[in-house]
Amino acid sequence: MHHLLTGKQIILGVTGSIAAVKAPMIARELMRAGATVTTALTGSAQRFATPLAFSALTHEEVITSVLPREGSKKDSGTWHIRLGRSASAMLIAPCSATTIGKLRAGIYDNPVTLLASALPRETPLVLAPAMDEEMWLQPMVQENLEVLRRSGVYVIDPTSGLLASGLIGQGRMLEPEALVIRFQQILERASEHLPLFGKTVLITGGPTFEAIDPVRFIGNRSSGKMAAALAEVAERLGANVVLIMGPSPIRTNGNKRRIDIETADEMMAAVFNEIEDADIIIMNAAVSDFSAAHESKTKLKKRDISDENGKLKIELQNTPDILREIAKIKRPDQRVIGFALETGNSAESYAESKLLEKDLDMIVLNRADEIGAGFGVDTNKVTIFQRAGTKIELPLMSKEDSAREIFASIMRLP
Ligand code: C5P
Repeated sequence: MHHLLTGKQIILGVTGSIAAVKAPMIARELMRAGATVTTALTGSAQRFATPLAFSALTHEEVITSVLPREGSKKDSGTWHIRLGRSASAMLIAPCSATTIGKLRAGIYDNPVTLLASALPRETPLVLAPAMDEEMWLQPMVQENLEVLRRSGVYVIDPTSGLLASGLIGQGRMLEPEALVIRFQQILERASEHLPLFGKTVLITGGPTFEAIDPVRFIGNRSSGKMAAALAEVAERLGANVVLIMGPSPIRTNGNKRRIDIETADEMMAAVFNEIEDADIIIMNAAVSDFSAAHESKTKLKKRDISDENGKLKIELQNTPDILREIAKIKRPDQRVIGFALETGNSAESYAESKLLEKDLDMIVLNRADEIGAGFGVDTNKVTIFQRAGTKIELPLMSKEDSAREIFASIMRLP
């Protein structure tokens, strides 16, 4: 249970209730469970708990306004969309009666409600109401909560106890430790409703490096960003993720199992080790097509590899085509997705013929000659071809959004 939040980004929304004084401790409990915590505070919450308390504890962004951060060109007016998409869940604790009313009515006039509005459908929103019993029992408050519950919002009911008014009654938020345990239980239950729950997704990514000698290698410019985005989205959709990654500086977190390899041979061995349990296999890696026929154990000297005309010769050989090998052994219930990086006018027909040759269910074409697509950059422009003949041409979008679209297509496969 305590691993559930490892590497996850949680948005903590804090609203105006005296229980906001406990919110920094909630942030700390979330962090103890492994989460990275971004906090958003309404104006009235800031009267009870200071932004500084949260930034000192979480070392992360603390959002106090709906306006874009000054000088932040990158985000302009869309910071809430970026943050909403990168979050695994949002917890509003304490959640005031007013915030409950605003969420029900769709009034997104403060950073907390605005962020809640920008959460993707599958990302859980959990409310921990805290108020005096009179307010808690207001028919309006109960009705608002009922409507929110029906639309998929989770609620951690307050308990009975001593309230700030000095009265005893229902409306008391759980103590931070118990609250975060409850929050984790809710996330665990919510994950069972995710579309890829119980499925294992095997993803390869990054380049492979094929050694020529101890200092030189044959490689390519693949960064591993697309595979990391695919792994992230798969995990959000509830899958168990195994990521087999060639040399890449990209860090990944969460509960993904990452296996770092270097060469095509190693990638193939790792894929074949894992393939049995995989329901979906996505070969995103830019596997080197060739390696040195003989890897030298000592650093090659120019004279060792030059001929009489001063030309250098290194004998190369083909690496195994992992996808072709997968095609030979895959089960009918396994879905296999390939990638193709092509240039020029025939890019689409190359991709389509690869789909058949490698016996794939789907292929994702990347154009290496389009600005903003392919290796190294944060965006991608892909065209998806399915076995059944469907073609989906996507516009330029972030790699994360491309990954979402790719999974939407995978989930529509027969
Ligand atoms: O034939 P080509 O390299 O263009 O095919 C690209 C697809 O095949 C990608 O999905 C890539 O991961 C996979 N591939 C492979 N083994 C290789 C080369 C490519 O599995 N040796």
